[in-house]
Amino acid sequence: MDYETIITETRGKVGLITLNRPKALNALNSRILAELVSAVNGFCADPGIGAVVVTGSDKAFAAGADIKEMQAISYADAYSQDFFVGWEEFTRARKPIIAAVAGYALGGGCELAMMCDFIIAADTAKFGQPEITLGVIPGMGGSQRLTRFVGKSKAMDMCLTGRMMDAAEAERSGLVSRVVPAAELVEEAVKAAAKIADFSLPSVMMAKEAVNRAYETTLAEGLRFERRLFHSLFALEDQKEGMAAFAEKRKPNFTNR
Ligand code: HXC
Repeated sequence: MDYETIITETRGKVGLITLNRPKALNALNSRILAELVSAVNGFCADPGIGAVVVTGSDKAFAAGADIKEMQAISYADAYSQDFFVGWEEFTRARKPIIAAVAGYALGGGCELAMMCDFIIAADTAKFGQPEITLGVIPGMGGSQRLTRFVGKSKAMDMCLTGRMMDAAEAERSGLVSRVVPAAELVEEAVKAAAKIADFSLPSVMMAKEAVNRAYETTLAEGLRFERRLFHSLFALEDQKEGMAAFAEKRKPNFTNR
């Protein structure tokens, strides 16, 4: 499909989405949101795709929500339209999404990265929630997701001072899963996504669902939920195939059945 603000391509079983508003450092306007959601939904509906990577440019993953677009919005409009609620659709994707972040991931850019299932960062990455410098606060999950990733003290520091975190600090504090050299970022993220895409899709989707449930419920309920999903996987041919392949010392041939 032809998009204006993103580029989509497939690399084997991986869907790759590149944010593409270079003149605005990939600032997230309503168009990019609509296109991103459409692209992710398309990849989720495509049986040939097992995982998705979202990336930006060398300079910016995304420098935030588009300040110029939202500058003049009134309270009445923001409230009536439930401004930013559209991003919830992005988080409903059931296939795994990896954020591959180089350069600035600020405000909505940091929040978009955190909406993905995990973040691989280039050594050039810089994360921040600078909304306070604009007279507002994070509006796409920054105060909630960042706090769950890095804890209260660091999240408060980031949201109240607006300072940026470099890649090393982001890895140390659990915001990103790994840091790679900038030149290898997309390749490494696609490699990780390809590895996931080679596994049985239903088990991958259930693993995602189970980990996400940890954020929504108590430990006892989460453990019960995990166990029930685990039980259900024994209904799949892929469980038989995966375990038989191990016993027979060969590679499994998963069919997503
Ligand atoms: C709209 C943006 C933008 C943004 C950059 N640009 N960020 N446009 N919205 N978030 C535009 C600039 O206006 C400029 O356009 C061009 O991109 C290049 O940016 P420069 O500032 O010239 O680049 P540089 O000097 O390298 O500085 C990079 C930067 C800076 C440090 C990332 O651009 C910056 O501070 N951006 C804003 C970061 C931010 O505050 N993000 C949070 C947004 S609020 P022109 O046309 O001048 O060349 C948010 C959530 C809001 O995300 C939720 C609450 C409701």
